[in-house]
Amino acid sequence: MHPLRRLTTRAAFLIVTCKVAACLDIALLTKAPSAAVAISPSFLSLSIEQDRWTDWVGTTSRNEFFFNTLDNLNQITGQPPHIRIGANSEDHTNFGNDVEFAEDIFPAVTATVPYPEATNITVGDGFYQAAQFLPPNSHVSWGLNLGENNLTAAFLEAKSLAKAFSSSQIKNAGITLDAIEIGNEADLYSNNGLRASTYTSTQYVSEWTTFANNVSATIIAEFPDISPKFWGAAFAGSSHSTTGFSPQAIFAEGVLTSPAGKLISTISEHHYSGSFCSGNGGLLQDLMTKSTIRSNLTQYSPDITSTHAKGLDYVLGETNSYSCHGAPGVSNTGGAALWTLDYSLFASQLGVLRVFFHDGIGFKYNLIQPITLTRSTLDGTPLTTPSPPHVQPQYYAAIIAAEAIGNSGNTKVIELSINDTRVSGYAFYEGDTLARAVLINSQAFFTTDTTPRTSVQLNLTFTDASPPKNVSVKRLFVPHADDTTGLTWGGQNYDTSDGRISGSLQVDSAAATAGIEIQETEVVMLSF
Ligand SMILES: *[C@@H]1O[C@H](CO)[C@@H](O)[C@H](O)[C@H]1NC(C)=O
Ligand SMILES: *[C@@H]1O[C@H](CO)[C@@H](O)[C@H](O)[C@H]1NC(C)=O
Ligand SMILES: *[C@@H]1O[C@H](CO)[C@@H](O)[C@H](O)[C@H]1NC(C)=O
Ligand SMILES: *[C@@H]1O[C@H](CO)[C@@H](O)[C@H](O)[C@H]1NC(C)=O
Ligand SMILES: *[C@@H]1O[C@H](CO)[C@@H](O)[C@H](O)[C@H]1NC(C)=O
Ligand SMILES: *[C@@H]1O[C@H](CO)[C@@H](O)[C@H](O)[C@H]1NC(C)=O
Ligand SMILES: *[C@@H]1O[C@H](CO)[C@@H](O)[C@H](O)[C@H]1NC(C)=O
Repeated sequence: MHPLRRLTTRAAFLIVTCKVAACLDIALLTKAPSAAVAISPSFLSLSIEQDRWTDWVGTTSRNEFFFNTLDNLNQITGQPPHIRIGANSEDHTNFGNDVEFAEDIFPAVTATVPYPEATNITVGDGFYQAAQFLPPNSHVSWGLNLGENNLTAAFLEAKSLAKAFSSSQIKNAGITLDAIEIGNEADLYSNNGLRASTYTSTQYVSEWTTFANNVSATIIAEFPDISPKFWGAAFAGSSHSTTGFSPQAIFAEGVLTSPAGKLISTISEHHYSGSFCSGNGGLLQDLMTKSTIRSNLTQYSPDITSTHAKGLDYVLGETNSYSCHGAPGVSNTGGAALWTLDYSLFASQLGVLRVFFHDGIGFKYNLIQPITLTRSTLDGTPLTTPSPPHVQPQYYAAIIAAEAIGNSGNTKVIELSINDTRVSGYAFYEGDTLARAVLINSQAFFTTDTTPRTSVQLNLTFTDASPPKNVSVKRLFVPHADDTTGLTWGGQNYDTSDGRISGSLQVDSAAATAGIEIQETEVVMLSF
């Protein structure tokens, strides 16, 4: 922490009056209220664009950097993040017996899409077998090709996938295939050339059922170690009604009634806050803003309710800030880390089981860049010095969420009611006992700001018991909302060549009732 800030923070602890421009009451319950919801240790998970899957995970040995970034999270919560592999490129993938790992054909690089997805991917057994290099006990969901409407392609992929997850390397590592997805964003097939412009959800349900019946019957007959389950939907958007593409519509059209339909465990939907191929400060503040985060997510409430009514889980199986692989100067910044944290934790309040942040090699909105890059992720220009594997600011959101959830295996979370358009917060309970709180100040403080960075004083009150004596205070320091580096979490960082933590831990102790300052573009975690 900057010495000056340590001083001002200390000073605020002495007198419980409003020392800064704004004071906010934060009412906490020391016992879990009934509205607190269970949150999974792997709540914040990853979706990986599959064309370059082996660049992420490795081919004949593991990618240590990627492994370490996942293992960091595993060490905090006791579970590695779940991994969904597929996305756009899943609908352009075929199987080739003579292919060892994967052969990709890429379109031309452009300034707005410096790292395009391959348009044609042929994979072999080694492609699926590479999942053995994930951390032990990883849970995987994998997409098969529906887009090209070639049942043989999906059938051959499914056999190779099931063969890999039946292998001793994967089984002995406790790595499991949770679910199979068939087709990515079928609601877009009518305008991306994969189907006629008249394509409907009824046709989708019919095709999905044919493919899923084939794939599940094949796996059940030939791979007794695998009990196939499916993710349904995986739509890019939703009509939120029984007309058009939505979970409600495909339920009404009978997607759950076939033998394979009965194996759907989870409904997945995708969400981006918009599509911007260029960015600016206004766009970053919009992304971070409390009210837009809430309105982006609450529109899914009818879908979540319908899904739960069928006894199924609901996930955001692919999500991130802005499509176009992220907006430059927005998706790759410190401000996006605050967005990621608030967006994820708010999703937990709506009944979302897990959020899968989408990442592809060189995408702007990645949490992790797992290999050396030789051209700019922002505009595709060649880099004079190659950029080695590194984490991006959003990775800190995954770390903070993991620490807030902890390793109890029995954590609940509830959003705190905070009367402020910028500050949001969540209380975490282990069993029934208040363990931690996370507060987020989403007022963007930019490199271009000429006025001093302001703070809000958080005045903690405990409404059901006497306050705990002391709290420990850990801070995510973000130099500026639009900075892409320089973040520290409790004084430590992950800016290392191996993706492991570096620096010495700085956590302050404060009297619980003294008032805690939170500055613009900052996260504070309180541990009780
Ligand atoms: C903080 O909360 C306490 C207890 O409700 C109250 O007495 C005090 O005035 C508050 N302080 C500020 C600065 O709001
Ligand atoms: C993909 O590439 C392979 C190998 O070049 C080729 O055989 C196949 O026809 C291509 N598929 C599509 C859909 O273009
Ligand atoms: C699945 O489809 C493949 C390719 O068309 C076919 O060879 C196979 O017999 C089918 N299997 C089942 C169980 O329907
Ligand atoms: C469908 O996939 C199979 C298996 O890879 C391939 O042999 C066949 O050519 C494909 N069909 C079309 C129409 O692309
Ligand atoms: C989602 O958030 C973006 C800002 O990131 C905003 O422009 C958009 O209007 C929001 N959408 C909804 C449906 O609230
Ligand atoms: C919320 O804050 C506004 C001013 O920021 C204030 O006028 C209002 O009374 C507050 N509401 C509650 C319920 O405290
Ligand atoms: C509690 O916080 C005060 C600062 O308010 C500090 O002086 C004291 O050492 C802390 N006590 C413990 C047990 O950490």
